[in-house]
This record gives sequence, C-alpha cells and structure tokens, in this order.
Amino acid sequence: SLQPVILSGGSGTRLWPLSRQAYPKQFLPLTGDYTMLQETVRRLDGLAEEHPREAIALLDPLVVCNESHRFLVAEQFRGLGRGAARIVLEPCGRNTAPALTLAAQVATESGEDPVLLVMPADHTIRDEAAFRTAVADACVLAREGAVVTFGIVPSKPETGYGYIRQGAAYPAAELSNAAFVLDEFVEKPDASTAEVYVANGGYAWNSGIFVLKASVWLDLIERFRPDIAGAIRNAFASATLDGDFLRLDTGLFEACPSDSIDYSVMERLSGTRQAGGVEELPVAVVVPLDVGWSDVGAWSALWEVREQDAAGNVLDGDAFVHDAADNLIVAQSRMVAAVGVSNLIVVETPDAVLVTTKDAAQEVKAVTQFLHSEQ
Ligand code: GDD
Ligand code: MG
Repeated sequence: SLQPVILSGGSGTRLWPLSRQAYPKQFLPLTGDYTMLQETVRRLDGLAEEHPREAIALLDPLVVCNESHRFLVAEQFRGLGRGAARIVLEPCGRNTAPALTLAAQVATESGEDPVLLVMPADHTIRDEAAFRTAVADACVLAREGAVVTFGIVPSKPETGYGYIRQGAAYPAAELSNAAFVLDEFVEKPDASTAEVYVANGGYAWNSGIFVLKASVWLDLIERFRPDIAGAIRNAFASATLDGDFLRLDTGLFEACPSDSIDYSVMERLSGTRQAGGVEELPVAVVVPLDVGWSDVGAWSALWEVREQDAAGNVLDGDAFVHDAADNLIVAQSRMVAAVGVSNLIVVETPDAVLVTTKDAAQEVKAVTQFLHSEQ
C-alpha cells in the first residue's frame, strides 16, 4: 500500500503578510479555491485508477503538523469531504527528519510496511496527471527497496534547494518515466557552487518529495542519526491518541535533535555509497519531474504560477492598474491602485501592507524576523 505523508510544519515567512505564524501559507488558498494543503491531497485523486498495473492501494493521508494548527488541518480535511486524515501533532518544530521518523513509526505500528509518499504541504504542480505517473513509477521502485527522489530541471542557481546529480540509467522494468541512479546529493550549496552546477548541467533540483518504504527510512535514520531515531522512539512510545490526533509528550519530543531529511540522510546516503559502495545501503534513484513544479517560496514565485493578464499583472481582490506591467497585487480590505509601475509586489491585508519588488521578494523574511525581535 501507499501511505501519503504530508509535512505541514513550515511557517512560510517569505509570504508575509498573508502567511502568518498562526496561519502559514499551506493553509491558504494561494492559487485557487483550495488551500495548498488541500491541493496536496487532491493531486493524488485518480492515482490508483490511472495506474491499475502498479496495483496501488492508496491509504488515507498522514499529516504531521504543529499542535497549534490541529484545528486548521482537521477543518481543511473536512472541507474536502472525504476520508479522515490521521494527524500527528508536534509540540514544536524539529525539522523534517523527526517528522518523517514519526510518520514511519505510525505507518508501521500495525506490523505493515507501506511505501511512504512524502510530500511538503506547500508545493504547486501544474500537470497533476504527469505527477501521478511519476509517483506510480516511484512506487514500483520503492517497493523494491529504493529511495526515490524527483529531479527538477533547474532554471537558476537557487541556493535554497538541494541539488542531485543524475548518474547512469537505473535498470527498472516497465516504467513510464526514465530513472537514474542518484550519484550525489548536495543540500543548499553556496552561490558559487550552485552556479557551477547549473552551468555544467547534469544536476537537478531536489523537489523535496520522496518515496521509500517506511522500514527503509527507519533503517536509514537509525544508521545515520541514531540520536534522532532514539528520541522519536521514546516520544512515540508514550504518544496518546485523541480522536484523529496523535499527541506527543512535549519534553520527550523537545529532546529530539533538529535536522532535515536532506542533511540527515540524503547527503549521507549518497556520500557513503560514493565513498565505498556500502552494499547493504539502499540505492537512491532520481525520477525526472517535468510537471510545472513550484515550492512557492516567495511572492515572486506566486506571481510566476498564477495566471497573468496580457500586461503580465496578477490582480487579486479590488485592484486597479494603469500603464503597469508584471505586478502582483493583492487587495484584501480596500482598493489598491498601481499606476506606471512594473515588477512590484503589493499585498494589502486588514492589518499590514507589503510593498516590494519581485527581485527583493526573498528578503521579506526580514519583516518577520523584525516582528519576532519586537515581541
Ligand atoms: N511536520 C513538520 N515539522 N513539517 C516541517 C517541519 C517540521 O518541523 N519543517 C518543515 N516542514 C515542512 C514544510 O512545511 C515544508 O512543507 C517541508 O516540510 C519542507 O520543509 P522546508 O523548510 O520548506 O524545506 P526547504 O524548502 O528548505 O528544503 C527542502 O525542499 C526543497 C524544495 O522545495 C529540501 O528537501 C530541498 O532539498 C528541496 O530542494
Ligand atoms: Mg520549502
């Protein structure tokens, strides 16, 4: 069976003032009628039916999120009007490796060993059918024990992503997509390294979506970060079920070190194999993903994924433009007019207004840093 695991613990600070600590971006309908979390679930509709040969039994999603967002998550699942999710509540953020370890514990609790489809809650994908085909392929590979990543063709030397180097074609029977051995995984390289990677070709961005068996993840985290594995085992042993919510003891979970899937396991897995081909380690595979993927990291990325008018403007709410091009304007509580300007981001909400340019959109996190320092 295939267990979707949705990581929903991020704070989306670069999308301030719409994304707030109490209401991060994954809970907002940034691209349409459904929120990013809901889109993440809906994107899988049809997977089993479209790929009968792969015999995919799709389980209800498992969401890992911060305790303070439990009602948001539960309400957004009710809004989808379908099978409930199981929701694991983290008392604090410890990054993605502990979150996935928790999910793998939950998934194997009853003695099963499903394939996990690990998905961030805040990505957009334009061609969802092609995405499902790639997931079906990944599912076949993961059942055989592989750790599957998805490679995105890089468009710029972005330093906020992981980079994966595609090696030889990976021999697998009857896949719809090509698959390659993952030769190297470098998380968030510095700017000059990223430039070399993009200029040389042969590197893809890591999408942040992973497919692997629950037992494979548990073995990997035990091997590379036994401290995380042990802390999560302790926390899970005393977890209590409260309806759909799995609650963890605050002290035990806080005792877990913080690290990401990418640093704790992916870099080490590829590095260890490179160093000496350790036979008992699982193989890491890249499936190229050309589906209009975006992690909507900043306002400039939202402008890119939203439909633009003939002048390149994206207008949301009561916004008026004249002689203006390539702007993103959000007007939530009053009219916003832009005249004779281009490449601006203007986000008006009842209690805060952001004005920036698309080029500076990455810097918006400075605002939330400032607000935290004021508290
Ligand atoms: N449950 C939980 N708990 N979820 C978390 C936590 C946490 O403590 N921290 C982050 N997440 C969720 C975020 O909400 C997001 O959906 C996902 O996990 C990834 O975390 P990010 O913090 O957004 O990671 P990143 O963007 O820096 O890097 C990852 O994604 C890139 C692509 O967007 C890496 O996998 C990179 O290699 C990758 O290129
Ligand atoms: Mg991210």
